[in-house]
Amino acid sequence: LERVVVDLCCGSGAIGVAIAAAAERAGRRVQLNAADLDPAAVACARRNVEPIGGRVFEGDLLAALPDSLRGTVDVLAVNAPYVPTASIALMPPEAREHEHRIALDGGSDGLSVHRRVCAAATDWLAPGGRLLIEASEDQAPRTAELMAAAGLRASIVQDDDVDGTVVIGIRP
Ligand SMILES: C[S@@+](CC[C@H](N)C(=O)[O-])C[C@H]1O[C@@H](n2cnc3c(N)ncnc32)[C@H](O)[C@@H]1O
Repeated sequence: LERVVVDLCCGSGAIGVAIAAAAERAGRRVQLNAADLDPAAVACARRNVEPIGGRVFEGDLLAALPDSLRGTVDVLAVNAPYVPTASIALMPPEAREHEHRIALDGGSDGLSVHRRVCAAATDWLAPGGRLLIEASEDQAPRTAELMAAAGLRASIVQDDDVDGTVVIGIRP
């Protein structure tokens, strides 16, 4: 059975490639899809994703994906921009001077892209499919509320080793 994986806001495609590699180690076949709005990110992701048999789409969030994926996605991994606009100036120079602003800016509360993804995700997930959104520790409860409002079963997972927080929503 092939699992359908989407790396949304994929940037380089690293997250999708890592998920595909982990699935392969576990003996699972994956159909990898990745998408981003920034043509530079799409070009970079194509170099990483296409050699392992995945596809990369350019466009705004889930609208970039082919309609045939609606209701089929098992894993929807999203590393959206989530820095509140006013906090970008406080980031380390390597981020604020070299990253494209579109890769960082999450709007006034940092949650504008999370809001849009949560509102649209349920349509794309297969029953039992999972939405995973990286968040800051502070924002995670609010991202979890957005998932719950969209009808997903939400939980927050913290990884102290990588100092990372992911909000997971399962489509019942
Ligand atoms: C934090 S970066 C992701 C980095 C990625 N995980 C990597 O390993 O390179 C956020 C990405 O979201 C993309 N993005 C921002 N707004 C978007 C939108 N409306 N639709 C699709 N992608 C978007 C940016 O272009 C950027 O590549």
